Amino acid sequence: MTPATTASPPLRRRAGWLAMTVSATLIALIAAPYLTLDPDTFLAEQRAVYTAHRPALALHVGGAVVALLAGPWQFLPRLRARRPRLHRWTGRVYVLTATATGLGGLLLVPVGLYPPVAPAGFAALAVLTLVSTAAAVRAIRRGDPARHRIWMTRSYALIFTGVTFRLWLMALTAAGVGFQQAYVTGAWAGWALNLLVAERLTAPLRGAVGVRP
Ligand code: HEM
Repeated sequence: MTPATTASPPLRRRAGWLAMTVSATLIALIAAPYLTLDPDTFLAEQRAVYTAHRPALALHVGGAVVALLAGPWQFLPRLRARRPRLHRWTGRVYVLTATATGLGGLLLVPVGLYPPVAPAGFAALAVLTLVSTAAAVRAIRRGDPARHRIWMTRSYALIFTGVTFRLWLMALTAAGVGFQQAYVTGAWAGWALNLLVAERLTAPLRGAVGVRP
């Protein structure tokens, strides 16, 4: 009999994982040209600002691209069970790069577009990312894999804002909403919706082991 930890996940879960991984990879590829630090690749509205803040931008986008790419593989139960060393090393890379994403994001907040509402949304996102990633590390160091999974799901849901924020911008501007309105609302909705999904996905785990929070 196959152990519970390596049992095939239901089709819906696999399809969800695939959609998440493909969209995260696409957005990472779209953001990667930023790593050349060539101003021509920067968002036109912020070109001058980003050019003046290249180290923070490099820290932020460099971390974000790797965290987005690495995260999905950590959620595969079979890979975790069969290659635990790979899981641990990829996990270390994820923690470092998610932390760089949050810290770099915090450095960009004071020069963000459409203050104060949009940068405040990104600041909240950065703090939540740093806190959830640190809580996940703390949980596994204490030998608590259930709490580790819950916090890592939250952490990646927050990192996944790199995808949902851009989808939000595309969908709303295509529907005729102004860029500023789409940007300001997306700076909050882009991560709040992801967190709701994370809470839903981790509910059975929290219920099964009586984990709080
Ligand atoms: C912890 C999560 C994140 C936080 C707190 C955050 C925060 C920020 C902030 C404050 C800015 C400047 C916004 C402005 O100029 O108005 C920014 C820009 C940017 N971020 Fe993030 N971000 C996060 C995740 C990501 C991810 C996962 C990606 C992956 C692609 C990403 C890619 C970018 C890029 C490319 C820019 C430059 C502007 C653009 O082209 O959209 N960010 N981010």
